[in-house]
Amino acid sequence: MSPDPIAEGVLMVDAGTTQNFSSLLRENRVFAPNAEFAAKAHVKSEAEYEAMYRKSVEEPEAFWGEAAGELEWFEPWETVLEGTFPEPKWFVGGKLNLSHNCVDRHALGARRDAVALLWEGEPGEIRKITYGELLVEVQKFANVLKGLGVQRGDRVAIYMGMCPELAIALLACARIGAIHSVVFGGFAAHAISDRVNDSGCVVVLTQDTSHRRGSEIRLKAIVDEAMEKCSTVRNVVVFQRSGSPVNMVPGRDLWWHEEIAKASATCEPEWMDAEDPLFILYTSGTTGKPKGLVHTTGGYSVGTYLTTKYVFDLRDEDVYWCTADIGWITGHSYVVYGPLQCGATVLLYEGAPNWPENDRFWKIVDAHKVSVFYTAPTAIRAFIKWGDQYVKGHSLDSLRLLGTVGEPINPEAWMWFYQEIGKERCPIVDTYWQTETGMHMIAPVPGAVATKPGSATKPFFGVVAEVVTKEGELVPLGQGGLLVVRKPWPAMARTIYGDHARFVEAYFSEVPGSYFAGDGARRDEDGYFWLMGRVDDVINVSGHRLGTMEIESALVAHAKVAEAAVVGRPDEMKGQAIAAFVTLEEGNEPSEALKQELRQWVAKEIGALARPDDLRFTQMLPKTRSGKIMRRLLRELATTGTVSGDTTTLEDFGVLAKLKDGEE
Ligand code: WTA
Repeated sequence: MSPDPIAEGVLMVDAGTTQNFSSLLRENRVFAPNAEFAAKAHVKSEAEYEAMYRKSVEEPEAFWGEAAGELEWFEPWETVLEGTFPEPKWFVGGKLNLSHNCVDRHALGARRDAVALLWEGEPGEIRKITYGELLVEVQKFANVLKGLGVQRGDRVAIYMGMCPELAIALLACARIGAIHSVVFGGFAAHAISDRVNDSGCVVVLTQDTSHRRGSEIRLKAIVDEAMEKCSTVRNVVVFQRSGSPVNMVPGRDLWWHEEIAKASATCEPEWMDAEDPLFILYTSGTTGKPKGLVHTTGGYSVGTYLTTKYVFDLRDEDVYWCTADIGWITGHSYVVYGPLQCGATVLLYEGAPNWPENDRFWKIVDAHKVSVFYTAPTAIRAFIKWGDQYVKGHSLDSLRLLGTVGEPINPEAWMWFYQEIGKERCPIVDTYWQTETGMHMIAPVPGAVATKPGSATKPFFGVVAEVVTKEGELVPLGQGGLLVVRKPWPAMARTIYGDHARFVEAYFSEVPGSYFAGDGARRDEDGYFWLMGRVDDVINVSGHRLGTMEIESALVAHAKVAEAAVVGRPDEMKGQAIAAFVTLEEGNEPSEALKQELRQWVAKEIGALARPDDLRFTQMLPKTRSGKIMRRLLRELATTGTVSGDTTTLEDFGVLAKLKDGEE
């Protein structure tokens, strides 16, 4: 947290969204729900939404109890909700298994022969796996894990590309009660070993290589490098995706296909307690290393199920495509667990949107008759830049609903998405939520809630969201403030793995009695929420969440770097770009070669997604008298090339002149 986001001037909107924000303030277009869509929707009118919302907040136990009743439980819960922030417990005493609700429930019912996973590889292969087949695959792989001695509560790391086996891996862990920890395939070896060691994973699941933009990412080789520092890992199971050569370590590494060939196809699901951990997912925070957010079984199941049902208005016949990687929370909740609980056909695509041409996504939509398409604003901005000619010539008439996630969407991108992709027929759901929240928090229920370009609209059922001051007092409509949630919701993370004190401190200490999300927001006269970006040191690069501290630590780990400060600056395509300011150890001189070396170093330490876009050498960093780096100044400098704001707390004014001179 910056010391006091509100007192720092205007609400300290993180740089990436300031531009968008000015256009948001002028935005007044409203799009009423499409009547044809509304007629068939789960929620058909604003009045119906309002009534459901009222019930959900006035009688949360009744509301969520009913929602949970749509899933199958091995034993019913005794109470829906016990306690409150920071330690609420949901569906206490209930027993269930999420793999059962995602797979068995459909495979043993009417959806047995319906396609559960529809996969397209980047080179063009297609695989279709029905719910019936998925049940077999999940059970077999669950038995493979059991055979390796993985027990309920053990941690399993997963470092794979987008392929059906990745989804199967998650479901197999859930089936036996092992806690999965997926590490996004774009992270580097260091990032893997840090995460594996933090939670003491006993097995790692990976694949030989994955295809991306015409080349192969050597996932297994990266795992090998990470394993040099991971003493808790007994086995690495390797899925053969491409057949490219890999090094197999005898006694440690096993082939996926060889193991499942030996495995039995029956594996009864564990009866998990509603509050048993389901997975750990690491995300960036303001300080220190990434934190392992822990999600539990019951509340997460119900929250992802209900949001998928209502926000995507999902039904059996939908071919649903969320373009996020399963390595992020969006992939956990809305590629795997939400849509499979709803029994939909889930499309998975392995590769890049611009391979072999810029129209790959639209080809996929037409080829597989995708009806619900969920992507990130950064992707939409790329499509706009590539040009409408890549959209024209594709009919896109199977689409009925569009969604966005990950960062605020600028109204211009929203309008393009609405007109060019949705042909003014498909509602857009702009969904605001976080790794921590597990499920959508603010998002329209299409068919019921009118949309405004750039606004995530209204809270989902059961979500009591407000915009407040640091003291927790309501900010008048139209003014910016801190976004908080007042009451627990089922899918919220329960702790940070191994550090509950940090969990309480990070989310429940900023605004008394509330969950503080880390975002700024404004509410308009209609009660609509307009997200204004992070108010802390988290930055959002192409919808990927990064902590400035993580990048700084990577930089100072380089022998030639003395100090580093990293800030976000607005970027038209990525939302935010990474700007780094670096001071060197005695005896080193700034040079273009060193600059490139340091950028590459960060990519090697964390992953290419964290490579600084700009890197400037400076003799000093601007600090307050108490020694804190004045990021606000650096942000301003990185954004506008100058500093105009208040500098009275600056310790050494000389540093500014030097910074402005840009000693690059
Ligand atoms: C941002 C991704 C505006 C926000 C699901 C949040 C958004 C962070 C939106 C969480 C949206 C996500 N509008 N901002 N629709 N969705 N954000 O944990 O700053 O990777 O705090 O979860 O992304 O990122 P995370």
